[in-house]
Parts: sequence; C-alpha cells; structure tokens
Amino acid sequence: MTTDQNPLLDFDDIAVDLDACTQPFDVATLFRRPGPIHLEIGAGKGTFLLNQARAHPHRNFLGIEWANKFYRYSIDRMKRWQIDNVRILRTDARDFIRSYLLDNSIDTFHVYFPDPWPKKRHHKRRFFANANLVHITRCLVPQGRIRVTTDHAGYFDVIRELLIGTPHAARLLEPTDFYPTDAAQPGEWVGSNFERKYLKEGRRIFTLAVKKRRTTVNKPQRPR
Ligand SMILES: C[S@@+](CC[C@H](N)C(=O)[O-])C[C@H]1O[C@@H](n2cnc3c(N)ncnc32)[C@H](O)[C@@H]1O
Repeated sequence: MTTDQNPLLDFDDIAVDLDACTQPFDVATLFRRPGPIHLEIGAGKGTFLLNQARAHPHRNFLGIEWANKFYRYSIDRMKRWQIDNVRILRTDARDFIRSYLLDNSIDTFHVYFPDPWPKKRHHKRRFFANANLVHITRCLVPQGRIRVTTDHAGYFDVIRELLIGTPHAARLLEPTDFYPTDAAQPGEWVGSNFERKYLKEGRRIFTLAVKKRRTTVNKPQRPR
C-alpha cells in the first residue's frame, strides 16, 4: 500500500505533516497506542518533551513549534533517543487548536515560557488571549489541565486574569496546584531550556495551573 492510499503511514515518523491532518483532527491517531495526550505549545528545542516522554512512556506527547530551526532540532533529538511517544508539528499553535483539535481530547496543555511580546502593538500575537481560551478549554478533557510558567511579571498578570480572574474563566476552570514535573531537576519546575537559562540568570519564575471543571457552563442558563 502506498502512502497515498494510507496517509496515516506518514505519521509513523515523529514529524507530523499538517497537510495530512484532517479538520477536525484526532491527535490520538498519531500514536501507536492509547494514552492521555499532552500538548506542549512552543516546544522550542524539545527538552521538556524529551525528558517527560522518557519519564512517562504511557503518555502521548505532541509538541507544536513554529520555528523551523527548533522544530528540526527537536525531531532529530527524539530520533536519536528513539522516543516513540512524541510527535512534533510545525505550525501556529493558535490556528491548530482552533481549527483542528477535537473537543475533550487533550489531557494537559503545557505552555512554558510563551513569548511575552512586550510591546503593546504586538500583544495580539500572544498565545494567551480571550479568543484562544475558548478553544483551549473546549479541547481539554474534563479535569484536564493548563500548566503555565513565565518569567514575565506583566504577561503573568494577564494570564492569571484570563485563566482565573473573571466570572467567565471561573465557569470553565478552577485553580489547582502547580507541581514540578517528574523530569525536572531539584529547584526546577519544568526543566525546559528557557527555565534553565532564566534560573541561571536568577530570574523569578511565575507558575500557574488550572483544570477544566467537570461540568462547564459556556452560556448563561435561561431562567425556567
Ligand atoms: C521563549 S521560547 C520557550 C521554548 C520552551 N517552551 C522552553 O521553555 O524552553 C517560546 C517558543 O514558542 C514558539 N512559539 C511562539 N508562539 C508560537 C505559536 N503560536 N505556535 C507555535 N510555536 C510558537 C517560539 O518559536 C519559541 O520556540
């Protein structure tokens, strides 16, 4: 059978081809076995993915990274380590979540050191924005988590307001403890490249974790 007849054969590789993804797309089809799906937004060089995938062989990890240099670097790394529970996709995570991801399909979104885009005219490029939140929560399984770290105090305030600071957020999400990942080293939260760099520089790291409520109410209830 050729690849044309069975496009899923393309997914035997670590690199995911966006053109082969249907809309909507079931991320579980990328993996050879069932398991909770963890999605990292802005995976960079893949250090978090590599270490977590090794620590949790029964979880399935998808990393999304739009910079070609980092995308290729992390694929090469996963291949060298013969990691079979990681897939990496090169695209804009915001578009992929909005247009491809199925409802109730993701166990955890990991967003570590998202670009803060500090200039006001660039704020629209930020990952954490109202327009994305509705899709992130839609895609989470009930009790699924969003885990965030950043060194940027201003962006952290925005993220906290978005995830736990409004009545809308409170209907969808509830705060939960942010535990260090199993693969993190002592003193680290997640063990990503940026965290290691910022810890060396003595920067403060802000963390936040929320989970999706079992029953989310997206629209106000009509009085009976
Ligand atoms: C500051 S780096 C952090 C990398 C990694 N998470 C870490 O902690 O080492 C942010 C990364 O997110 C990627 N990125 C930013 N916005 C993105 C988007 N909308 N979709 C996919 N990747 C994105 C950037 O290319 C960059 O590699």
